[in-house]
Amino acid sequence: MKKILVTRKLLKACEEKALKIFDVKLNDNDELYSQSKIIEMSQGYDGILTSLTDKMDAKTIDKLPDSIKILSNFAVGFGNIDLEAAKKKNIVVTNTPDVLTDATAEIGVLLILGACRRAAEGIESAREGGWKWSADYLIGKQLTGARLGILGMGRIGQKIAKVAKSLGMIIHYHNRSKLSKEKENGAIYHDNLKSLLSVSDVLSICCPASKETVDMINKDTIEYLPKGAIVTNVARGDIVEDEALIDALNRRKVYAVGLDVYKNEPNLNPGYLKHKSAFILPHLGSATKETRTAMGNLAIDNIDEFFKTGNCKNIVN
Ligand code: GLV
Repeated sequence: MKKILVTRKLLKACEEKALKIFDVKLNDNDELYSQSKIIEMSQGYDGILTSLTDKMDAKTIDKLPDSIKILSNFAVGFGNIDLEAAKKKNIVVTNTPDVLTDATAEIGVLLILGACRRAAEGIESAREGGWKWSADYLIGKQLTGARLGILGMGRIGQKIAKVAKSLGMIIHYHNRSKLSKEKENGAIYHDNLKSLLSVSDVLSICCPASKETVDMINKDTIEYLPKGAIVTNVARGDIVEDEALIDALNRRKVYAVGLDVYKNEPNLNPGYLKHKSAFILPHLGSATKETRTAMGNLAIDNIDEFFKTGNCKNIVN
């Protein structure tokens, strides 16, 4: 039996599955292990089932024992792992695509709705009670007829596009390459970011974090948005330069934001908290029972497949 270290607590069904297949070390108290603790605990292990809260940078990976052959990340994103450092050390890295598309797209749509329709302010007023209804009370932005710019038209972006289209939004997108007509489903392609931003009444960030996308939404690019645009991010905080977005909120260049992900989670930039129009969630993208179960099972299957066949369809490095 292969020896596998699981860094975070998984849902019960997944832990039971892992116990059947591997000699597994679970994290019953869901303690957040430091990098040095992961290094120490992985001595004598064959693989690690990591989570997005584990910062597997080059320094950490270099110090892992040579017995570690796989880092199976419990996430579709893998910005927490230095892929090159892993490759150099002959460690494969896998992720959990597809199974979280629907749940994450649901949160993506919620961010659009919440930011456009001033849900944060509405919830606060409803809880306080005594609000005074009037014809212009908490007037928001109507989705019907608004242009939605999708940055990164992968599986999640396509699903958000489909739902948003059914709500009457006009879909534009920017992606490294133009999609087939079928996948585009009527969306309008922009071959560069600035062109997409200039038509985005509402922006939905759906692309992975990578060297190319870090701080892509910054002081310069924000200026291409129409005045009063809404910016939402369901992908990764690293894609946005927080200071620039907060400054755009201060200037009302950006009217509202809908965010589920942040740089330095869980310590989001406090500048966002000053804005009532900020509709913010604590990284809930894949947080449904169905999806977290499917992700856990897939992360386990990736390890199993790799050790049985020497390969795995979800290798990302
Ligand atoms: C969640 O954010 C994921 O990347 O799976």
